[in-house]
Amino acid sequence: MTASASSPQTRHFALIPAAGIGARVGGAIPKQYLPLAGKPMLQYALDIFAASALIAHTFLVVSADDGYIDDFLATQPQLAGKLTVLRNGGATRQDSVLNGLQAIGAQLGADDWVLVHDAARPGLAADLLDRLIAALHGDEVGGLLALPVVDTLKRSGGTPEQHERVQATVPRDALWAAQTPQMFRYGLLTRALEQAHAQNRVGDITDDASAVEMLGLQPKLVEGSPRNFKVTLAHDVALAELFLKT
Ligand code: C5P
Repeated sequence: MTASASSPQTRHFALIPAAGIGARVGGAIPKQYLPLAGKPMLQYALDIFAASALIAHTFLVVSADDGYIDDFLATQPQLAGKLTVLRNGGATRQDSVLNGLQAIGAQLGADDWVLVHDAARPGLAADLLDRLIAALHGDEVGGLLALPVVDTLKRSGGTPEQHERVQATVPRDALWAAQTPQMFRYGLLTRALEQAHAQNRVGDITDDASAVEMLGLQPKLVEGSPRNFKVTLAHDVALAELFLKT
């Protein structure tokens, strides 16, 4: 990349997609507002980014009909001036991220870094955030937190009858489970997601890095933490609370 890769003007921004409802966790309210160890899930990530001297500003993407966000913000004076809410979430996570990126284009330079982080990962710790930013300093592509896979992996069959039958054991060597934040330059990430849309390949994208990979680039893997897992199913709530209390 250009000399601006290490320019002192290059800033870091957080972009948090929080426009999902989290149906699999099964709560009465959207997952990101579920109370976890006394605080709404969303607050954990927002507080980490707001407290970091490395993050210039945080953008939060919620759906246009989010009926919880205003009450939530009213209880978060520590975020004032550090957070902008974008009410343009989309039908999928990738739509929400792209809508968010397009909405902030006038405020960012193409070489500024954007750290996209799931609201559903309340266990991101400040030292892990620092480590990701340090590991990608001056990197030409960007990268993501991820954990090496330790379990033996099985692939089941595609049909309903074969769904619970092992079709193959997948070698786990060199496999990583992607986490967030995923950190890319504003211009590159926006281009990657726009191109995936234009080519009708959005269905193949389950994270930000996969859109960048479609450009033929190789994001860097930076070791994450089990604490930074994504709260997805009902039993994850208790596990998250255990982590968050320690
Ligand atoms: O549903 P899942 O847990 O995979 O969502 C990951 C993140 O993407 C969550 O923070 C969720 O709120 C967000 N999301 C979004 N817009 C959607 C769906 C999910 O911002 N349409």
